[in-house]
Amino acid sequence: MSENSITITDNRSGRSATAPIEHGVFPSAMVRELDKGLFMYDPAFLSTASCASSITDLDGANGILRYRGYPIEQLAEQSTFLEVAYLLIHGELPDKAEHEQWVHDITFHTYIHENIGSFMRGFNHDAHPMGMMVSVMAALSTFYPEAKDIDDTQNRLIQITRVIAKIPTIAAFTYRHSVGLPREYPVNHLDYTANFLRMMWAVADPNHEPDPVLAKALDVLLILHADHEQNCSTTTMRTVGSAQADPFIAVAAATCGLYGPLHGGANEQVINMLHEIGSIDEVPAYVERVKRGEVLLQGFGHRVYKNFDPRATIIKKTADEVFAVTGTNPLLDIALKLEEVALKDSYFIDRKLYPNVDFYSGLIYEAMGFPMDFFTVLFAIGRAPGWLAHWVELINDPEQKIYRPRQAYIGTEARDYVDIDAR
Ligand code: ACO
Repeated sequence: MSENSITITDNRSGRSATAPIEHGVFPSAMVRELDKGLFMYDPAFLSTASCASSITDLDGANGILRYRGYPIEQLAEQSTFLEVAYLLIHGELPDKAEHEQWVHDITFHTYIHENIGSFMRGFNHDAHPMGMMVSVMAALSTFYPEAKDIDDTQNRLIQITRVIAKIPTIAAFTYRHSVGLPREYPVNHLDYTANFLRMMWAVADPNHEPDPVLAKALDVLLILHADHEQNCSTTTMRTVGSAQADPFIAVAAATCGLYGPLHGGANEQVINMLHEIGSIDEVPAYVERVKRGEVLLQGFGHRVYKNFDPRATIIKKTADEVFAVTGTNPLLDIALKLEEVALKDSYFIDRKLYPNVDFYSGLIYEAMGFPMDFFTVLFAIGRAPGWLAHWVELINDPEQKIYRPRQAYIGTEARDYVDIDAR
């Protein structure tokens, strides 16, 4: 028997099944070999690899994150968000001609149908931007019915281009709606991120150009968020995609997953926590509360990274660049002190709790002027290429079928219906 294998014995029947262990997983089909009615109970999929993927390599123990083999540090330093999006979707970095074509195609698909404007006018002024984002993304499906032909490779690429091109426009429109400003349309001479920032902030100035340092910083943040393998929203994308829904509907569903505070909303919690702490002097007392289990240290800890979150290291550097432009923020001083105190404390050291990507991202977004309920929208813009890369991989994977897990039924046994007067 090979060392790289696993054997499971069903003690009820005495039968055993053996399967190879490759890439840290074994095929669960071996369990069904023993008994066709036997399933593995794995709430929240903590021990389940739902697919084989060649997009993102995440090694939590060693703090490694690579897209298609390229370390996140190199991509953040040397690449751009659009190039990373191409890499995620196509599997390779583009050559010059491919890059030029990709940037051209994205740039020329940034407009959204004017009827979307009328659609958006129906939202209350205080509608959450993620609610608007989800609805508009789903609505785009009705504008592009041909997107349903998911088997046509070329057609898929057009829809992917549309999603990545239009998501910043939708995002900026949700913001303009919330503050009652007229929508600012995309312009073609600016790059992806600068164009988005212009649509956000330009008021009565056709020549408005965003600060290049801030545009670059946001581009880096989008790169850092572009993929993170089988997280909640990506799994949603794959689940809905597995039913062969069109990509607009699947991205809308993935955006719903991201909307949840346990997934996309943690950086908002960091800002709330920093406000609650209020001053540097209060940091030690707050840390004591964390250690007593009364509150969480928001922005610390991660389900997968148990040494450090490589994105947090890059973000900290980006934060310095942003604050050099926007001026310092009293919340940053509290954050720095918190990090300093926590990293020296055995409670956090013993539990391997380090700052995660959210510890500084919220501070950067706030310094740039984004409202807190917009932070998750920025995450969605960044994550869209990752979702779409997984969608393509899913469609091309002959082992994939419609997602349909099983359950352990623990409810009432069969019983007879009782008339309402007799209950
Ligand atoms: N503050 C204080 N204690 C913590 C924290 C924290 N942020 N995170 C974990 N712990 C403690 C737990 O209480 C537990 O202590 P115990 O062993 O005494 O019971 C121990 O550390 C292990 O924690 P787990 O809950 O097993 O860690 P898990 O991997 O399940 O949770 C999570 C990871 C959800 C991210 C958690 O660390 C947390 O809630 N962090 C704060 C919220 C946050 O920053 N979320 C963003 C994550 S990054 C992202 O989603 C993009």
